[in-house]
Amino acid sequence: MKIGSSKRPSRGDRSAVLVLLSCSGSLRDPDWPEGIRRALQGALGSGDFTGESMQTALIYDGNRRILLIGLGAKDKVDVDLLRRAGGLASGRARALKQTRLTVWTRPFKNVGARDHAQALVEGLILGNYVFHGLKSEAAPAVVERVEIVCDQAGSKSWSHGLRVGEIVAEAQCAARDLGNQPANVVTPQYLAATATRIAARGDLHCRILQGGELVRRKFGGLMAVSQGSKDAPVLIEMDYRPRRARKTVCLIGKGLTFDSGGISLKPAEKMEEMKYDMCGGAAVLCALDAVHRLRPAVRVIGLVPATTNMPGGGAIKPGDVIKSYGGISIEVINTDAEGRLVLADALGRARELNPDYTIDLATLTGAVVVALGHRAAGLFSTSDTLADRLLRASNATRERLWRLPLWDEYLEDLKSQVADLKNSGSRWGGALTAAAFLKKFAGDLAFAHLDIAGTAWDMPRSEYYDHGATGFGVRTLVRFIEELD
Ligand code: BES
Ligand code: MN
Ligand code: ZN
Repeated sequence: MKIGSSKRPSRGDRSAVLVLLSCSGSLRDPDWPEGIRRALQGALGSGDFTGESMQTALIYDGNRRILLIGLGAKDKVDVDLLRRAGGLASGRARALKQTRLTVWTRPFKNVGARDHAQALVEGLILGNYVFHGLKSEAAPAVVERVEIVCDQAGSKSWSHGLRVGEIVAEAQCAARDLGNQPANVVTPQYLAATATRIAARGDLHCRILQGGELVRRKFGGLMAVSQGSKDAPVLIEMDYRPRRARKTVCLIGKGLTFDSGGISLKPAEKMEEMKYDMCGGAAVLCALDAVHRLRPAVRVIGLVPATTNMPGGGAIKPGDVIKSYGGISIEVINTDAEGRLVLADALGRARELNPDYTIDLATLTGAVVVALGHRAAGLFSTSDTLADRLLRASNATRERLWRLPLWDEYLEDLKSQVADLKNSGSRWGGALTAAAFLKKFAGDLAFAHLDIAGTAWDMPRSEYYDHGATGFGVRTLVRFIEELD
């Protein structure tokens, strides 16, 4: 989608859809151009459109369509409302099979120019997302050009917002694509190739650790999980390293391109959803793509351990003891608790890199879905500063995070007779024991764990999300990094 913006619409604007964002009661605004005011007469007269939040009306003016979108009370407009309005605009234009769109908006007292532009663009791009997959019929039409008309257009902060919105939303769509593709397309090798391609586009290093190197360097968790599978595992390391970095952030993403459970096999029902078990990894790769385009003065390292978890003849068995990278031994009670095994290795690796902050994103437990449903991800952190920064970022992106406890007491459930700890404990509080497990491998890193099992796919529908992979985390990670700059 190409996005432009200006203070006044270009002469001879041929967009077949004109979107007017209008707060309650401001439809009579004398600022609308004469032609538009005339076209609005009918809608005004009928009183049908009041401008309440997310209300819409479609008016035909000759061969042009005017789509009114209500924003509700002027002083209640926030970034998510603008994001939703953007999503509504491109979604409706798509439904009308229109490829060009002009959106009129006004400055708002409580949303700055930058956030205004960013949120609107995010909504427009996210609402335009369709995953067509491998269907043989032609892909549906999407919006190709958008012109945003606003008094603030041209200012530095407005232009910055446009750019950030575009970069972040494109990255999120790319993460959605990776999640939505089936597991026979998105393999560990495919993720590695994606990382390599992202790095080739910019000032970004990428190293793929695989084969003998993983064995020699003793990435025992990743290798244990992969040993029942024909697909070779990889550990992806990406490094965006600007010259004068204020801080170093290490992002870790669980990259299970399919999780069958292994020998502790999952039930058949909904097992197909386990293609999404790499969504944390996808968010990290795509966040790095956005970061190198935005060039903040923050070093960002991405680590994605990628493999499948399969019950092949060579698979790990319940009771096996393995040694993770860094030497902590683990008794594998349940081979379906595999995410924490590969994350243990990545955390061990992170510790060698001395980051200021380490954040992992993982579809780690069904238990977090029981706790928080599909509307918020679980946030666990060893650092209040880090947790607060993440919560602040998530406030702006509306990717909701809710902090849950990370107490050592939960490790009691993971005591083992034969190893330093076991990988699964009792049934209750599963998201919390999983987090406590990870903390053990994070050592004294300032560490946050986001359990995105409930938010990585199938979130409740909204104006800018319909179904499938959500790309959850990309917006928040980028915002968090930008705010460190
Ligand atoms: N990838 C799953 C978690 C998951 C399950 C995410 C359902 C989304 C929906 C993870 O690897 C897993 O299987 N976790 C187990 C852990 C248990 C065996 C301790 C779980 O949550 O049941
Ligand atoms: Mn599992
Ligand atoms: Zn898993």
